[in-house]
Amino acid sequence: MSDRTRESWNIATRNHNAHKGDQAAFLRGGGDLLFPEELELLGPLDGRDLVHLQCNAGQDSLCLARRGARVLGVDFADEAVAFARRLSAAAGIPARFELAEVVSWLEGTTETFDLAFSSYGAAGWLPDLGAWARGLARVLRPGGAFVYVEFHPLVWSIGPDLRLSGDDYFATEPFHEPVGDYVADSGAGLGAVAAADAADLTPNRVPATSYQHTLGAVLEALAGAGLVLERFAEHPYSNGCRTIPALVLGPDRRFRWPEGTARLPLMFSLRVRRPG
Ligand SMILES: C[S@@+](CC[C@H](N)C(=O)[O-])C[C@H]1O[C@@H](n2cnc3c(N)ncnc32)[C@H](O)[C@@H]1O
Repeated sequence: MSDRTRESWNIATRNHNAHKGDQAAFLRGGGDLLFPEELELLGPLDGRDLVHLQCNAGQDSLCLARRGARVLGVDFADEAVAFARRLSAAAGIPARFELAEVVSWLEGTTETFDLAFSSYGAAGWLPDLGAWARGLARVLRPGGAFVYVEFHPLVWSIGPDLRLSGDDYFATEPFHEPVGDYVADSGAGLGAVAAADAADLTPNRVPATSYQHTLGAVLEALAGAGLVLERFAEHPYSNGCRTIPALVLGPDRRFRWPEGTARLPLMFSLRVRRPG
């Protein structure tokens, strides 16, 4: 993990939140950001100890906490964790947030959990999926589950022209580019309520390092850590995020392929369990 990646996330997080209006009022008013895939795979939340890994600014963490889970969010971006703590207080939804590099934290913490959760842009920031998966197995109690809902790695191979002009699916070299303002690109899908004032946006020129992990590599890493696959699905839509410009936003905050396009999966979702 490089400090530049963290700094790029700090800038991006400030920009993303600049589009979202009064998020505490949204949450206090009962606003919810979770999608059915997440809730269905997580199952009952009331009274469960749940760690939300790479939680960013904590909006989803707080929606989980409001359902009765005792939530710890972990993220390495100072801006994200500070925002999450403020949002928790302002929304009146208790949750803990810890500033930490996720794999180091998984390797070192003494806490254990019934549930671990990650979503939408997580493993792609981590160079070593084996270490990540072993850390997940380490923090789960026997019988505990990890739920992961993620953009399908095929998505990054598809260019704006809907041809295979994007990144090589089997790329092994890391990518170095600033974290973009995908909240602005996704609009209502990611809770953007209005165009942000340009004065509130900082051009992000700090390159972040990310990695392409094939679907096979993700599944192999989890299995290699002794976690047992219980549920797995591929989805022809993208929750919240316009990962390809041509995708069309529906009223359910999902982006779908344009009419007449042969669909490929845009997301996958899974649940693995630590035997117990
Ligand atoms: C796309 S966001 C995840 C969004 C999240 N699902 C949510 O609920 O908003 C990716 C997050 O991963 C964090 N991140 C990236 N690399 C990390 C690392 N090595 N350790 C901890 N957090 C990391 C970033 O700071 C960012 O908040």
